[in-house]
This record gives sequence, C-alpha cells and structure tokens, in this order.
Amino acid sequence: MKKLLLISLLLLTALSMAACGGSDHEPFSPEQPETSEQPEGNESTPNTPISGGNGHYLVLYASRTNNTERVARRIQTTLDCDILAVEPQVPYEDDYNAMLERSQEELAAIRQGNYPAIKTMLENFDNYDIIFIGYPIWYGSMATPMQTFLHEHAAKLAGKRIALFATSGSSGISTSVSEARSLCPDATIIDRTLLLTSSTLSQMENRITEWLNGIGAEREEPETPDTSSLNVNITAGNRTITATMEDNAAARDFLSRLPLEITLNDYNNTTEKIFYPDPALTTEGVTWGCTPAPGDITIYAPWGNVAIFCKSWSHSRDLIKIGRIDGNGIEVLSVAGDISVKIERR
Ligand SMILES: Cc1cc2nc3c(=O)[nH]c(=O)nc-3n(C[C@H](O)[C@H](O)[C@H](O)COP(=O)(O)O)c2cc1C
Repeated sequence: MKKLLLISLLLLTALSMAACGGSDHEPFSPEQPETSEQPEGNESTPNTPISGGNGHYLVLYASRTNNTERVARRIQTTLDCDILAVEPQVPYEDDYNAMLERSQEELAAIRQGNYPAIKTMLENFDNYDIIFIGYPIWYGSMATPMQTFLHEHAAKLAGKRIALFATSGSSGISTSVSEARSLCPDATIIDRTLLLTSSTLSQMENRITEWLNGIGAEREEPETPDTSSLNVNITAGNRTITATMEDNAAARDFLSRLPLEITLNDYNNTTEKIFYPDPALTTEGVTWGCTPAPGDITIYAPWGNVAIFCKSWSHSRDLIKIGRIDGNGIEVLSVAGDISVKIERR
C-alpha cells in the first residue's frame, strides 16, 4: 500500500513535469525496488576505471537501481573497454520517498548552479576516442550525479566525443541531451543516442549492438605482439637496450616466456649475468658450443641457467648461444652486483 502511494506520488510529479516540459517527459511507472541493490563488482576504487582493451573507449555510468548499470556493463563487455561508476558523495537513501525528495532538491539546486557532491573524479580522458555516458532519467532530466560529473569535467572533456545512453520508465532522452550539450559545450555529443525504457530494456542486447554499429564503435582488440619477431628489449632501471635472439628452439622457448621480470645474478666478477628459467629452456636440436663474446646470450646446459656475457670467455662446448645484445648495449648490464631487468618482445 505504502509503495502504491509512493508510486502514485512519483507518477503525479512526473506527469506535472511532462505538462510543463514538453513531449520529452512522458509519464512513467517506475518498477524499481524501494531499496537500492548493491551493484556487482563495486569494490573497485572509484577514480580508476576498470581496465578493458586498448583504452579507446570508457563507459561512465550513474545508476541507482542497476538498470543503467546493466546497460553500461553490456556496452563494456561488447567493446571490452574501461568502465567506471559515477557515485554521489552521500549514497541515496534506501527510503524511496526520501530519495525522490532529495533528487528533486538536487535538480532544483542544479538549476541555481549548485551541483550536488560526487566522489568520482578522473584525471584526464586523454586516451579515449569515445566516452560513453549513461544515466537514468529523473523527472525528464539527466540524473544529478552525472550532471555534476559533466559539470566538473567539462574542461577535460573539451574536444572529446561523447556517446549518451539512458534508461527511463518511459520518458525521452532529448532534454538530457540538451543538458549534456550545455554542460560540456566544447565536447562533441554524438547525435545518435540510446534510450532503453521499461518496455524496451529486455531488448538491451540487440539495441546496444545496433547502436554501437551505428556510431562506429568496434570491439577493442588487445595489441598482440609479433610472435615471429626475434627482437627483444631489456630494460634495467631507466635504460632499455635491445637484443636479437637466434632462430633456434631454445631461443624460441625463451621468447615464449616473455615478458619476464627477473633479477640477473652477478657471476664471476661481472663476467656473466645469470638467471635460472623454470623450467629450464629446451635444448632440443640446437647447436652446442660457443666462444662467448661480450653481449652473447647463452644457456649453460649442465646447470640450465641463462648466461649473458659481459666479458669474453674461453670456448665451452656446453654453452648454447640463444641471442646477442645489439651494439654496445651490454655496457648497461656490465655493472657490479645483481641487476633487475624486464625483458619483453619488441
Ligand atoms: C527520482 C526519480 C525520478 C524519475 N523520473 C523519471 C521520469 O521523469 N521519467 C521516466 O520515464 N522515468 C523516471 N524515473 C524512472 C527511472 O528513470 C528508471 O527506473 C531508470 O531505469 C532507473 O535507472 P537506474 O536503475 O539505473 O537507477 C525516475 C526514477 C527516479 C528514482
């Protein structure tokens, strides 16, 4: 009964707003529960987007009862991109009536230029080609936390492309599109938007695919390293040297283990820098025997360690050459003591 009364109250308010707000504000029948549900995966730090693919797209969303969050997550998994929830500083009341009252107060305050506090802040949007902004429609408008977010990040969003999506009981999205345009006048708001109402939310998957195709947003593919390359980078501190691996089975096995972050132990007064791959590298079918010169990357087969020679040494038939540090790069490793390095494909 109490719920019925509250729904009627909300319906009345929306109807009265629709009357003065134009065709965009149709009546709606909210179906959300009176208490907000805890969104899944909400344990992430608010200001760091959860990482997806190559960082081309970011999905930002505000959601109180998960409708918009579900849409946001679907966009995120379709594109395999970054995502972040925009959250109010003070969580919305569980009491539905109190929440409605507060949202109306916040919308009125925004009209006076006072934006309710949020706890989400981003340093920059530098890497993103498109920023997806999602929110519920509240009394015909963009939900207040997202209005605050756009207001606070307007300068950083200048020059960026923004794609808007929203959920509502039945109201249209056009008022909130105008709000986004005036909040971020220097951003490009993509004309094609996505609205899912209570009667179309079930078609979410198709509608999202159609929309993303329409705005040319394609799934991000992780950058795959060139696995045919024999070139590697070795980074020690702030210096990176390059090496070229041999085209043999042991070197290929080594390349397949990259990237590696390891400590090279000093051996025999900086004659060699060594480490023990675990398991040992395959030596099947490779040529044994080498007279090491500075920069040679070898395996000492009896022990199974990799040895990078900093100085020349006598011939050993137990050494297997698997690569060579290019140019004079070995100087970077020819320092006393152990040295931490990162070795990765190039
Ligand atoms: C404060 C408030 C105001 C709302 N105003 C409208 C409205 O004007 N028009 C409408 O169609 N739906 C309205 N709704 C319904 C929501 O837009 C809809 O349920 C939305 O999907 C909720 O998204 P969320 O689950 O991400 O919070 C309102 C809901 C609330 C809580």
